[in-house]
Amino acid sequence: METMGSLRRTHMCGELRLDDRGKEVVLMGWVQRERNLGSLIFLDLRDTTGITQIVFDDTISDDMFKKAEKVRAEFVLAIRGKVRKRQSANKDILTGDIEVLADEIRILDTAKTPAIYIKDDDNVSESMRLKYRYLDLRKPFMQENLKLRAKTAKVVRDFFYENNFVEIETPMLTKPTPEGARDYLVPSRVNPGEFYALPQSPQLMKQLLMVSGMDRYYQIAKCFRDEDLRANRQPEFTQIDVEMSFVDVEDVIEINEKFLYRLFKELKGIEIQIPIKRMTYREAMDRFGVDKPDLRFGFELVDISDIVKDSVFKVFSGAVKNGGAVRGINVKGYGDKFTRKDINSLEEYVKTYGAKGLAWVKITEDGMTSPIAKFLEDEELDSILKRMDGQKGDLLLFVADKNSIVFDSLGNLRNEVARRLDIIDKDELNLVWITEFPLFEYDEEERRYVAKHHPFTSPMEEDIDRLETSPETVRAKAYDIVINGDEMGGGSIRISNSDLQRRMFKALGLSEEEANDKFGFLLEAFKYGTPPHGGIAYGFDRLIMTLTNSSNIRDVIAFPKTQSATCLLTDAPTGVSDSQLEEAHIKLDLKNE
Ligand code: AMO
Ligand code: AMP
Repeated sequence: METMGSLRRTHMCGELRLDDRGKEVVLMGWVQRERNLGSLIFLDLRDTTGITQIVFDDTISDDMFKKAEKVRAEFVLAIRGKVRKRQSANKDILTGDIEVLADEIRILDTAKTPAIYIKDDDNVSESMRLKYRYLDLRKPFMQENLKLRAKTAKVVRDFFYENNFVEIETPMLTKPTPEGARDYLVPSRVNPGEFYALPQSPQLMKQLLMVSGMDRYYQIAKCFRDEDLRANRQPEFTQIDVEMSFVDVEDVIEINEKFLYRLFKELKGIEIQIPIKRMTYREAMDRFGVDKPDLRFGFELVDISDIVKDSVFKVFSGAVKNGGAVRGINVKGYGDKFTRKDINSLEEYVKTYGAKGLAWVKITEDGMTSPIAKFLEDEELDSILKRMDGQKGDLLLFVADKNSIVFDSLGNLRNEVARRLDIIDKDELNLVWITEFPLFEYDEEERRYVAKHHPFTSPMEEDIDRLETSPETVRAKAYDIVINGDEMGGGSIRISNSDLQRRMFKALGLSEEEANDKFGFLLEAFKYGTPPHGGIAYGFDRLIMTLTNSSNIRDVIAFPKTQSATCLLTDAPTGVSDSQLEEAHIKLDLKNE
């Protein structure tokens, strides 16, 4: 191996153009590929900016030519040479009009045959990509994603700084912040038997900063949540976290719309429509079955409960009698795309959301096919078709159950049908604020109300007096920003008064003692003069997914975790030595593992 010697890089590999003809240059980088034609050798040299073709011919010394012959993929080289016009231009790369005729080559490092190909569309398993992440990150698209991530962070900082927000770091070793997931715990060596929790979000600290009079805060903050992982979730992820004083819902939304406008303008050149559409939670559920509706396509939910409430078809009437509902979607115009087998697989799909079945009516040239038509009176069927605008070519799909299951299964089915039909315009950007969320949600397992957003969210003024009497009807001053059916961010106006905060804890089933134990410091702080305040947090990783059109959150994070929260590169988590356990005052009890 050689050193760089006196060679110093003059240009990057993606930089040279026809105008640079004749220049003496030094490039450094990795070998993308090599072609040895005997008396001529071509090397594609790659760095983070692109690729340049290097040529070796008989104008170079024999020693140098011999060195070039030894070069293999991913060797690290320094090349000195002269830029010249290329015989046949390569229109696929920006440097495609030129090549560099080498007069010196230095092999700075050799490389084993790479475990994965260094190219964007290499079809290798994700576990290989994660194990050899440093190779995976050599791929141009991964480098572009990380660069866009950095650029986004800059736009975030520029915007919030210019608008008088102060960037403040909050601690990683802290007390539990309830955001609905389990905590990651860190044992304390100096305080035996005690644990820190890693923050699920900076929620409590940012509220304390408002009590401190900081007025406007933001942070690009790491958050940790031990929860079931899905395609757009990571146990360790990043938020753009924001909090402001002396504001109500409209104020938070207004400044955030300016932020989103700037973000898409600077990063994508897209001018989003301001003000952004709004929809109440109630409307979102009724029309789309989910609180993060994808508005890029139709197939809205239709309630037919009143039509079938007395039907002899007990699946339908029974659901309504039990307090549930029957709702359907019309897959308008795509009926012929779904065979009986396809519909069966849709039925299996909704069953994963708890539905007991999927009733359907397909309207074709030759009339109707349906396993349930025979159970329905003509008038019932007519009314259903009329309500759902059922016409030739349509497929109507129905679920009957309690409302939560009907919404969940049809809401997800709606997205699944659109995915299978491949009718979603990937370039469309559809933003919507969802507002007026319920303050509480009933947790069947724990048999108590839990906060839908978090316990610090303020109820809407007109609903406060129902906090104790009918909590399920109380709406919150909470809002989510949804982009193309994904929850990009969420926030709320907070409770800024310790009496109301205590009532809230009580409604959540927390005793006075528990409330003091967990959040005493916050309740105490609120007694010293608290401004009205509120804020929002965006999923930074999810925003980068949207900006890069990525479907996998791991493609926008340098060193992500797997679905089972492991790191295949470093092998974390791993066991620790007995002495480390002892220092942390921990005894393991793994009998059931
Ligand atoms: P929330 O829990 O809604 O609110 O989180 C805000 C946003 O963070 C993103 N997000 C995630 N991204 C990747 N992986 C995860 N596991 C994950 N969990 C959440 C989502 C989400 O919209 N403190 C409040 C905010 C506030 O009230 O100001 C909070 O954390 O995009
Ligand atoms: P069954 O009477 O159980 O054979 O069901 C007749 C049709 O109704 C089948 O197509 C089932 O998939 C459908 N079905 C059964 N239960 C439900 C339900 N809860 N909601 C919607 N469709 C259902």
